[in-house]
Amino acid sequence: MQVVGINSSPRKNSNTDLLLSSVLKGASDGGCETVHIDLSSYEIEYCKACDTCYRTGTCVLMDEFPDVHDVILESDGIVLGSPNYINNVTARMKTLLDRMADTVHCQRLLGKYTAAVSTAGGSGAFDVANYLNHSLFIMGASIVGSVGVNLSEGGEALQKGVDRSYQLGEMIADAICKKTEYPDQQEKHAAMLERMKQLVSQKKDDWTYEYEYFVEKKWL
Ligand SMILES: Cc1cc2nc3c(=O)[nH]c(=O)nc-3n(C[C@H](O)[C@H](O)[C@H](O)COP(=O)(O)O)c2cc1C
Repeated sequence: MQVVGINSSPRKNSNTDLLLSSVLKGASDGGCETVHIDLSSYEIEYCKACDTCYRTGTCVLMDEFPDVHDVILESDGIVLGSPNYINNVTARMKTLLDRMADTVHCQRLLGKYTAAVSTAGGSGAFDVANYLNHSLFIMGASIVGSVGVNLSEGGEALQKGVDRSYQLGEMIADAICKKTEYPDQQEKHAAMLERMKQLVSQKKDDWTYEYEYFVEKKWL
């Protein structure tokens, strides 16, 4: 059982990382191995939208994206953390997510669990955390929960968020251990897989790698 936490704040003593580290502590106490990734330590370029990964399964960009992506794929739980930057995730986080379009098509996160944390100076932390969860949800992961802290709510808000994050970590460990099923989410995952089957079939002459992947999985 492995849980990876990915922090996209570039700041030392990051508020968001305080929450993320607390999730990982909860997951570790719940029996999981944990991996902590600071995205600012990795060189990850913008997606060029060349579609090569759809055709070959590999990216043309020679950067450190695979180092992060491989850990995501080998983990049972993925926790994303981002501060609110102009009512959205950081550009670093968005750049990582944009590189994962093939992960969406191939529904590579099916069977995995996700959770998200965010902090904001004023407002919007919940929206950012929900966006992060939804991003991995469309790749197949099931959402365990989220913690958002708007620092404008006062000094105690962050500490309460740290405590809730620890509980979230325990919850993700529990979900992984028990292979918890969420019927409402599973219904949406099934619908998404149907959509991807149609898309990959339509594009089978161009997206040859993905088509073969679906055939190998016996999805087509
Ligand atoms: C470039 C930038 C944009 C920001 N945009 C917002 C914003 O739109 N709304 C908000 O409430 N806080 C905003 N903030 C404040 C951060 O979300 C807040 O300080 C957060 O806790 C920083 O997290 P960190 O310590 O993990 O880096 C912004 C901060 C920066 C540096």
